[in-house]
Amino acid sequence: MANSHVMTKFPLNNAAEWVAAFGSPLYVYDAKSIRSQYFRMKYAFDPSIDVGIHYACKALNNLNILKLMRSLGAGLDAVSLGEIELGLLAGFQPKQILFTPNGVGMHEIKEAVEMGVQINIDNLETLEEFANEFGSSVPVCVRINPHIMAGGNTKISVGHIDSKFGISIHQVRHLHRIVHNMGLHVHGLHMHTGSDILDIDAFMRGADVLMDLAHDFKELTYIDFGSGFKVDYRAGEAATDINSFGEKMSIRFKEFCLEYGRDLKLIFEPGKFLVSEAGVFITSVNSTKTTPSTVFAQVNSGFNHFPRPMLYDAYHHIENLSNPEGAQRLYTIVGYICETDTFGYDRKLNEVRNGDLLAFHNAGAYCSSMASQYNSRIRPAEVLLEGDQPYLIRERETLQDLLRGTVEHGLYQDVEEGIREEAEIAVPS
Ligand SMILES: Cc1ncc(COP(=O)(O)O)c(C=O)c1O
Repeated sequence: MANSHVMTKFPLNNAAEWVAAFGSPLYVYDAKSIRSQYFRMKYAFDPSIDVGIHYACKALNNLNILKLMRSLGAGLDAVSLGEIELGLLAGFQPKQILFTPNGVGMHEIKEAVEMGVQINIDNLETLEEFANEFGSSVPVCVRINPHIMAGGNTKISVGHIDSKFGISIHQVRHLHRIVHNMGLHVHGLHMHTGSDILDIDAFMRGADVLMDLAHDFKELTYIDFGSGFKVDYRAGEAATDINSFGEKMSIRFKEFCLEYGRDLKLIFEPGKFLVSEAGVFITSVNSTKTTPSTVFAQVNSGFNHFPRPMLYDAYHHIENLSNPEGAQRLYTIVGYICETDTFGYDRKLNEVRNGDLLAFHNAGAYCSSMASQYNSRIRPAEVLLEGDQPYLIRERETLQDLLRGTVEHGLYQDVEEGIREEAEIAVPS
């Protein structure tokens, strides 16, 4: 029986060939899907509005993906100096990069200013330090926390009152004092309330807060409404209706620009929307194991490579690529890490056999970029599909990568008798 729940979006026919060529586990990304999501977003808004899409490269930071985004006309959302460096290496102009750090020291902000990127500040204390350092010489953007609870999981809800992000909307009076008394030029307003937000009204509420506030800042050139657009992780699941959002937002933004007296640039900084569906993670089954409560399918990976299920209780569709006609059974899909690393409970899969390839969908965002070497497991290769052509864009790590940076001093080579005796004496009996 065929799998009743097959996601058809990803071209997986050649998966066995990719694994033969590049090994498993393996991240594979489809450039066509990225392009299509980019233009879906771009064209969701009224063409008379200058819309900027700043790719949030934390989602998937391979240099080739950044270059692809640049070729489409994207800007970049960077949260660290490392992301800025990657962006510059990918060919972005400094002014196309907005640096939105949180909790960093002034030394990082100074470095970013020297690199010529745009600076976004989300803390009044930091803003005062910035003003002392740069005064009116460097324009700045400020991140506002509109106090809106939105997002698919508390860990990725960042616009509420208990969140560490942004300058509270209740601190606006203080913000004005700093801006006016210290001569700052505020060129941008920014917000980002979370990820996995389905409800268009939540976006619109935040947008209204920012547009109301914008009237008090006369030198703006853009408003950055952040991101958080939800994609569908399971077949039939609802995703943010980007067209309907684009329509509502365009009307509201055009009204705002009329009232403001000038056209501003409308910026978003999507990560997940652009790359989540463009990725698939392919693992091989090491074994199955029947216990009193379930049948485990154990694959050659773990939350070290694919963290979202354990981190956010995220659902990722999983399918058996190797046995599409096999009878369906219930499986709990797990990894090889020395703690619970369940990828999916009670999933109906076509019968799973040792060596079968399992595909994990929506693996483009926050998978390889969050991967680690936990359990001394090396990180998988990454492949980018341009049409049918697979390009290796990151090599699989080797055991040498586990040692990279380690400094060996030749300490503790031989345990001398005397030392061992001293240690034994020190142990209380
Ligand atoms: C400031 C900022 N902008 C954009 C994003 C991208 O969000 P998403 O991947 O939901 O589009 C994030 C995600 O954490 C973020 O913190």
